[in-house]
Amino acid sequence: MLATSIPVTKTTASRLTPELRDKAAFGAVFSDHMLVADFVNGKWEEPRIIPYGMQPLNAAPAVAHYGQGIFEGFKAFPRANGGAVVFRADANHARMARTCQRMAMPEVPKDIFIDGTLALVRLDRDWIPETEGSALYVRPVLFATGETLGVKPSETFRFIIETCPSAPYFSGSVDLIAEDTYVRAFPGGTGAAKCGGNYAGSMIASLEAQKKGFHNVLWLDGIERKYVEEAGLMNVAFVIDGTVVTPPLGGTILPGITRDSVLTLLREMNIPVEERRISIDEVFEAHGKGTLQGAAGLGTAAVIAPIGRLRHKDREITLPAMTPGSPLGKAGAELEAIRGGQKADRHGWLMTI
Ligand SMILES: Cc1ncc(COP(=O)(O)O)c(C=O)c1O
Repeated sequence: MLATSIPVTKTTASRLTPELRDKAAFGAVFSDHMLVADFVNGKWEEPRIIPYGMQPLNAAPAVAHYGQGIFEGFKAFPRANGGAVVFRADANHARMARTCQRMAMPEVPKDIFIDGTLALVRLDRDWIPETEGSALYVRPVLFATGETLGVKPSETFRFIIETCPSAPYFSGSVDLIAEDTYVRAFPGGTGAAKCGGNYAGSMIASLEAQKKGFHNVLWLDGIERKYVEEAGLMNVAFVIDGTVVTPPLGGTILPGITRDSVLTLLREMNIPVEERRISIDEVFEAHGKGTLQGAAGLGTAAVIAPIGRLRHKDREITLPAMTPGSPLGKAGAELEAIRGGQKADRHGWLMTI
């Protein structure tokens, strides 16, 4: 299916205003159109692009009871000629396919996911704020619509792609507290899947961290509460003695597309990278020895979010600031330059609308 073959009903009452587009908090405002496709009778029905708005749902959708609900998130970046590029949507599609498999949900066909994204971004391109570094955030979501209380995979699902104007993400550093009450994931669980339940289960930890004066938690492994896994809603990497160390993917960590992109760029720059387990003790010890040169969260929103303060139980450190010349600073700048079009897309990461 080509993007052009998806039937489009355009809005007759665009909500687009510079005020709404440029000032909205992240995720608070949706662009004019969305894609909707239903999975019924064992197959996907034709997708359609329609004005963003209400969608009828029966009063007992299976997602509300048993949580078969998953999502993705990535960005489209503007180009000066009025066009835009979408960053690694194929990788997000592949991750959603793995999440579908884990959650016993039907895989969304690649043409619906990719062509639907391209068509939507083309249609709502003008929703990208004009400030440099802005993007259109693309949010595909798939949820169970089956009307039954039986505990089994739903037989019907709805897939929606919605988009939001996304202003540049300006953050200082993020302060994290290593979580020792709650766990995000454990071996055999759903940590590597982008399912809503993972987020619902982690909100209380974020709230408690905020009450203690931190932005979010540093997740530790669910068995020994010893090894670092993720930084709130981001993957995490440490720079120790010139080497970038990041926890390995192994089922409990979300395989971030930013993580993958940053590691690719670091290796290309011949900066040593280790994907291995790293304990919270090792982080504090490296800081004590003066070899911890920085750490950051990695994710679509910020690309690289430097970690400022880090607390674990009754010990706390302030990490060295991330300089542009540091390994993560360099990889982050390179990635932003590729997304922004200032550097060549040598990895084939961009799809042009
Ligand atoms: C739990 C978690 N880890 C890591 C990431 C980073 O993934 P990505 O780089 O694909 O945005 C995200 C954001 O999607 C996340 O929610």
